[in-house]
Amino acid sequence: MWTKGILFFTIYFVKGIHCELSNLYFPDDFLFGTATSSYQIEGAWNEDGKGENIWDHLTHNHTHLIRDRSNGDIACDSYHKYKEDIALLKDLGVSVYRFSFSWSRIFPHGHPYKPNPAGIAHYVAFLDELAANNITAMATLFHWDLPQPLQELGGWTNPRIVPCFAEYAKVAFENFGSKVKYWITVNEPHQVCQEGYGSDNLAPVLNMSGIADYQCGHNLIKAHAIAYHIYNDTYRHLYNGKIGITIHGIWYEPQTPKDEETADRMMQFNFGWWAHPIFTSQGDYPAVMKEYIAKRSTLQGYKRSRLPEFTQEEIDSIKGTSDFLGLNHYTSYFVTDAKINNLDTHFSSDHQVQANAKISWGSAAAPWIKVVPWGFRKILNWLQNTYNPSEIHVTENGFSDHGGLNDTTRVSYFGQYLQNLNAAIVLDKVRVKSYAAWSLLDNFEWLDGYVNRFGMYDVDFSDPNRPRTPKASALFYKDVIRNRRVGEFVKVN
Ligand code: NOJ
Repeated sequence: MWTKGILFFTIYFVKGIHCELSNLYFPDDFLFGTATSSYQIEGAWNEDGKGENIWDHLTHNHTHLIRDRSNGDIACDSYHKYKEDIALLKDLGVSVYRFSFSWSRIFPHGHPYKPNPAGIAHYVAFLDELAANNITAMATLFHWDLPQPLQELGGWTNPRIVPCFAEYAKVAFENFGSKVKYWITVNEPHQVCQEGYGSDNLAPVLNMSGIADYQCGHNLIKAHAIAYHIYNDTYRHLYNGKIGITIHGIWYEPQTPKDEETADRMMQFNFGWWAHPIFTSQGDYPAVMKEYIAKRSTLQGYKRSRLPEFTQEEIDSIKGTSDFLGLNHYTSYFVTDAKINNLDTHFSSDHQVQANAKISWGSAAAPWIKVVPWGFRKILNWLQNTYNPSEIHVTENGFSDHGGLNDTTRVSYFGQYLQNLNAAIVLDKVRVKSYAAWSLLDNFEWLDGYVNRFGMYDVDFSDPNRPRTPKASALFYKDVIRNRRVGEFVKVN
């Protein structure tokens, strides 16, 4: 399968340069890509009939919540410059591009009564350009930019969202199905629900943890499953694509051997919350999550658990609704057990776990991203052993700094993480089929605005033309793709 085989070499480099004893090739059919999302790059926030979404609403009405008081009104202007972006992809040599559709361009009011022809035409032109350049489309239906009118009805906490999402998915399959190979229903449900509804880290900044986040998750999982069934029943035989979900996976490592159960509980609360209903043969939420939340709900005087229950029929219709497991991975932490006696309803009190980072670990500009490359290999192995998915796609992995073309810390991060990915595939036989670096371009990083940069291409946001310039990491990644192995790089974090 790996025609180039494995090349072993033993070269020791001078201090500060990464030493590798073995250098592995990625399989011939492995797909390299990059990832972006609609609100973060498109701009054109009110053009061609697009409606307002929750990020337009938040940035326009609560400007102080964004670190540099910026917004995505123009962002990278990719709505107009998509051909230029695709030329960059071509130059990098990627074979897959992960992007998202903006729901409010297709249904400006969220409610499914009349798709916007201009929004559809835009994405058709974009997909045709990708195809003309031989780049496979991996499309996310929902990457956080919910139409504002749906939010006003409660957003993901209102069960009414399920048919709205289903109709949006159907229109997307109908219009774009022949041009999209991989579909991702939802990007990072944990961040949508726990951070958007259970904290104030993301729109809609609801901050009602232990209640709203669980309600949000319940509807979101059902919406995902219905979209899967629509594709499976009506479009799969026509277009032969694949459809799945992308979950954000932090690796939680036991701090000491006695913390193993704690680490597993933390994986279940964070990853299993989303993966257990979809990827296990029992389905439903993880048992430990049901048990801990029910126990604390009783102590708090609730008549029923704050975690909603699926009916058996729902459990059965959610199980197996993913052709692949999409993983966004950035970082890892050590965990220990935390006995939390307070009676608050917070998610982090429900799981009773304390997470810590080692002081010696490097950090990105975003302090939550610690540089722990071995955690990537561990989580990939854990996913395969726990859920046995037929395919894993790494739909995001990346590092933020404060900008600049000589992004040596990003090269070092990518180099080390790609080595661990390669080892997981070649040595551990984990079935990872693609990798998308976050991100192609510097872009709007949610509440961090343009302060923290994730791009392999710099974007000059002070210039109305938004010129793109390759950074050292783009050149590094281009070599990895061309050589199909990581090769040498300077390790600085
Ligand atoms: C994951 C999200 O999907 C993406 O939108 C975000 O920019 C990156 N994490 C970095 O925080």
